[in-house]
Amino acid sequence: MGNNAFRSKISEDYTLKKGHVGWRCPSNLAIIKYWGKHGQQLPQNPSISLTLSNAFTETIVNFELMDYESEEPSIEFYFDSKPNESFQLRIQSFLSTLNDYFPYLSKYHLSIESQNSFPHSSGIASSASSMAALALCLCSIEDQLSDEVMENKFFLNKASFISRLGSGSACRSLYPDMAIWGFDKNIEAIIHNTPSDQYAIPYTQFHQVFKNYHDDILIVSNQEKGVSSTQGHRLMEDHPFAKARYDQARHKIILLLNCLESGDLWGFGKIAEEEALTLHGLMMCSDPAYMLIEPLTIELIKKIRNFRQRSNLPLFFSLDAGPNIHLLYPDEISDKVNDFVNNDLRSHCLNGLIINDKMGQGPEKIESFSI
Ligand code: DP6
Repeated sequence: MGNNAFRSKISEDYTLKKGHVGWRCPSNLAIIKYWGKHGQQLPQNPSISLTLSNAFTETIVNFELMDYESEEPSIEFYFDSKPNESFQLRIQSFLSTLNDYFPYLSKYHLSIESQNSFPHSSGIASSASSMAALALCLCSIEDQLSDEVMENKFFLNKASFISRLGSGSACRSLYPDMAIWGFDKNIEAIIHNTPSDQYAIPYTQFHQVFKNYHDDILIVSNQEKGVSSTQGHRLMEDHPFAKARYDQARHKIILLLNCLESGDLWGFGKIAEEEALTLHGLMMCSDPAYMLIEPLTIELIKKIRNFRQRSNLPLFFSLDAGPNIHLLYPDEISDKVNDFVNNDLRSHCLNGLIINDKMGQGPEKIESFSI
């Protein structure tokens, strides 16, 4: 399905005066990373992610028919119940690109309210969960305005497509457990489903040992990043290792899918760590070069590897585009990992902050905020 498939087909003769929609949408952690893009937010390589559970955004949109047609989308935006002008401007400029997909945007005023489950002081980026929650709300409004019911698969694919236009990684937040984004014929042959550059699709063929797989986020710093992900993607354009990296990601994702299917926790963890360090390695040799990890990130990595060697337990780490560490482990070893975390890691984290998360069930419709 290309862009055209998601253009709105509903008549523009709107009769519904007003209504409201709401979604809770989780964040996700990429195991094979998306790093480098082209065209309109298209990935240079396929990526695969865990859908999280406890780190989520809730968004509620009230919409009301205006008695005039507006050239620019008419919106107000509240974050944590307070008007937020900088978010409002970002969302307004994003929505102004979506007229082909949601022509109702010129006819309805939207009042958007949003909240995150994770503390502001955690330094965790919310673009994936917030863009995906907003995209779901936009699709739900379209659904309410339409006479025809949108088929569930199409609805989620469209929400994923719209999320991607807002922030690439957001398109993987739409499904339970795991998601794949980016076309590759070798992946297609393994999963018997066709992945796409335009939107993510669910991945379900993983072994039972990965069910409820954990991702605890050790907070190292809450400082805003010096270089955003969007700037980082741009630096891949002239990166001396770009081609090798994209080939490597295509190769690694196949190895990872084999580990996921066979239940190879050790193979999976090894690839997850390689991907995390490769991501940061690419940043360290970009031009200009930059570094997002902190000395504490490395100290914690050493402790994790040391524990793994001592205990022979499959505890691994991943990193996002920042210094915080994602601790990855299967549910069956969670008691032993908790002891290790509380005795050896927690006191090193910023204000002792750790966000315990695990693979979750994807977005959910909501009537009101739960946070
Ligand atoms: C390191 O999705 O935040 O988290 O598309 O410019 O919004 P934009 O970038 P973004 O990049 C995420 C990069 C990453 C890896 C990943 O999630 O795959």
